[in-house]
Amino acid sequence: MSFSVSHHLLLCATSCNGACCDPSIGLATWTRLKRILKDFDLENLERPGGVVLRSKVDCLRICSDGPILLIWPDGIWYGGVTPERVDVIVREHLIGRTPIEKWILRRTPQAQ
Ligand code: FES
Repeated sequence: MSFSVSHHLLLCATSCNGACCDPSIGLATWTRLKRILKDFDLENLERPGGVVLRSKVDCLRICSDGPILLIWPDGIWYGGVTPERVDVIVREHLIGRTPIEKWILRRTPQAQ
């Protein structure tokens, strides 16, 4: 089956051992992210705007101010991503297409 992708979200939330964030916050954020993507039907492979992919990763090599959420293809890295913040990020960044400047730690645009 062929489908298009609008964004891929990478959240560090597995085994940071507290270096990046409290692991319980990372896991709670991951749980909330899965829920809100489903609530907005963003994982629907037939979605006209493309599906939103998500991956829970071990480490994104920042290791402070976590949990870290990296959003591709935008190259935007959010820090301190709690369950409450991930709700806002999905609504405003993914759906509203407006990144939340005050929570951005880093920008890494893709090379053209
Ligand atoms: S554990 Fe989060 S960036 Fe390294």
